[in-house]
Parts: sequence; C-alpha cells; structure tokens
Amino acid sequence: MSKSAVVTGAGGFIGGHLVTYLRRHGYHVRGVDIKYPDFGPPTADEFELLDLRSFEDCRKAVYGVDEVYNLAADMGGIGYISGAHASITFNNTMISAQMLKAAFDARVERFLFSSSACVYPQHLQDVPSVIPLKEEDAFPAAPEEGYGLEKLYTEKLCQYFTEDYGFPTRSVRFHNVYGPYGTYDGGKEKAPAAICRKVARTPEGGTVEIWGDGQQTRSFMYVDDCVEGIYRIMQSDHYGPLNLGTDELINISGLVDLVAEIAGKTIHKSFDLSKPQGVRGRNSDNTRLREVLGWEPSIHLREGLKPTYAWIAGQIQEAQQEAQREADAAPRQAAE
Ligand code: NAD
Ligand code: GDD
Repeated sequence: MSKSAVVTGAGGFIGGHLVTYLRRHGYHVRGVDIKYPDFGPPTADEFELLDLRSFEDCRKAVYGVDEVYNLAADMGGIGYISGAHASITFNNTMISAQMLKAAFDARVERFLFSSSACVYPQHLQDVPSVIPLKEEDAFPAAPEEGYGLEKLYTEKLCQYFTEDYGFPTRSVRFHNVYGPYGTYDGGKEKAPAAICRKVARTPEGGTVEIWGDGQQTRSFMYVDDCVEGIYRIMQSDHYGPLNLGTDELINISGLVDLVAEIAGKTIHKSFDLSKPQGVRGRNSDNTRLREVLGWEPSIHLREGLKPTYAWIAGQIQEAQQEAQREADAAPRQAAE
C-alpha cells in the first residue's frame, strides 16, 4: 500500500515542490496551507486551507497520515525577517509546537521540522570568508533574532519529544533555497529571486541596485536538491539537526554578475548600505550530512539559476503584456 504524507506550507515555495516530489515517489499527499499556491492550482491529492496557529487545525492536518513534513512558517528573506520579529516569532512558535504535539498525539510514523541556517550564532558569521558552519556550532546560542530563535527552540522541542517519548523527529537546517515558483516580489523574496527580478527588469546597460556592499557571502541550494535532501533525511534514522545546503560560497556581487551573464545583459551595479544585510558570510559544512546520507546537494548555482531566471523573467514578461493589454483596452472602453 502507498504511504501517505501531509506537507504543510504546500501553498508555498518548497512545500509546493515537495508535494510534486512525494507524489512522484508514490505517496498520497495532503497539502495544507493558510492560502492556495500563488502560481497555479494545488497539485496535492487533497488540499486543505487551515490555519496551523490553531491546535484544532493542526489535528485536522495530521489526521490519518504516515508522515508529517512541517514546512509551514511565516517566512521571507532578510528584509522581511528582520522587520517583523514579534509576529514571526509568535506565528511560528504556535505553528511548530502545535504541529509537533498534534503529530505525536496522532501517532504518525515520522515528523520533519524545517529549520534554518538562521539558528547559527551571529559572531561565527561576521566575515565574508566565513568558516562553514557545523551542526554543533549552534551552541552556545546566539541565533538570528525572532525567526532563528524560534527555529532553534523548536529543534530542541523535537529532540525532547524523541528522547522522552521515542517519537521519530527530524530537524533540517536549510541554507538559502532558490528555484522556480518561489516568491520574487512583494517584500518576502530572498536574494537570488530578487536579483533575477531586478536583472529581468533592467534594460541593457542599466543599473541593478544591490543591498549592502555586495561583498557579503552565502551558499545557495537549488530547490530540487532541497526536496531530495528532505526526503532522504526523513527516511534516514538520524534525528539530530542536519545542515541541508551547498558549500559553494559566492558573494552577492558575484551572484548579480552570474544572473546578468545568464540573462545575456551587460549591467552596472549600485550599492545601498541602508538596506538589511543580515550576516556577513554564511556557508554550510556538509560533513555530517555526507556521513549520514552518503549524499549532499550537487546542483551548481549556475545550473540552478538558469531555470530560475527563465521562470522569473517569464512571469515578469507575462505581467507586462497583461498590463499593456489593459492599457490598450482602457481608451476603447472609455469611448464605448
Ligand atoms: P514559503 O513562505 O514559500 O512557504 C511557507 C508557507 O507556510 C506559505 O505558503 C505560508 O502561507 C504558509 N503558512 C504561514 N503561516 C501559516 C499558518 N498559520 N497556517 C498554515 N500555513 C501557513 O517559504 P519556503 O521558502 O517554502 O519555506 C518553507 C520552510 O522552510 C519554512 O519553514 C521556512 O522557514 C524554511 N526555510 C526556508 C528557507 C529558504 O531559503 N526558502 C531557508 C531556511 C528555512
Ligand atoms: N532579499 C534581498 N533582496 N537580499 C539582497 C538584495 C535584494 O534585492 N540585494 C542584496 N541582498 C543581500 C542581503 O542584504 C543579504 O546580505 C543577502 O543578499 C542574502 O539575503 P536573503 O537571501 O534575503 O537572506 P539571508 O541569506 O540573509 O537569509 C535567508 O536565508 C536563511 C537560510 O539560509 C532568509 O531567507 C532566512 O529566512 C533563511 O532562514
């Protein structure tokens, strides 16, 4: 008989991709979110609109399934998470703790929590040539305010449920994930999508604005690697936190150059030091991931950015054509 799973956050970026992945692997998938997906109809076998800050809704979400992939969160890039500490911390605390308890009560086989590289101490990430972060570096703790603090706390809660009750949990620390069908506008977008959007909207020879001086570094993981890693970690026996990211470090200025090259455009760069920048450098140490899985993300940034840029540029072109059609229709309607 096929396995069943619930993916929370299925109306979002990684959750949407995970639904597709699990269905391809023969799962019956229930998608749950507070909203429908932004870019097309849900692809889950069943999709329920639920608010997981409510315990009753968490119970409905997990009812009758074998595995719980808890990806729902109030989430965004550095601009968003550094500007809404109270609401993000409250919302995510409610979602994570109650989803864990509901899954435990329902006696599901496994529970996966989507944590973040934002759990790591700020002082270990204060230079661009950062030393890659190992799992044990998270303590002594000094996580990203709000969003990172909740992730670290919920990791511990998962650990306690495993140790005290034998409940199989997994905590996965994603490092900046990008790909098609992710938010690229509106304030929650992360750097790769934001930069694809800016380059797509910039004419040949124009200027792209970068937050900060462009020397800050990150590693970025393509979403196909992310969902593959999520599934492999869920099926493993490892319950402690694990990094899931690449160790291909790049600075943000280099990321802009790469996107411009993929777009086939010559652009200039300007730098806005007043914008949120987060840590100065962040990279993933995948030693433990390799030990546990014998696998790690392998899709190079250049390869992953090609479909990502093509999708975002396509979305922008469609929106521009739609706006043009509306502008063309307006005088006709006024004349009628
Ligand atoms: P996303 O914002 O696209 O998806 C999160 C989804 O959760 C959204 O669709 C949102 O509507 C839903 N949600 C929020 N509040 C809810 C509620 N009260 N009830 C039900 N659903 C609710 O984000 P994503 O990039 O797909 O991230 C998925 C998970 O991975 C999150 O837990 C996030 O913190 C974590 N993560 C992502 C990244 C990344 O780079 N994308 C990095 C680290 C961690
Ligand atoms: N968002 C964004 N938009 N960032 C930009 C831009 C832009 O136009 N231009 C430059 N940047 C810079 C930011 O200043 C930051 O230094 C870097 O690009 C990365 O920004 P983000 O992608 O927004 O966030 P992050 O890497 O600091 O944190 C993200 O990744 C974590 C996991 O690694 C966030 O999405 C967190 O929520 C997530 O947990």
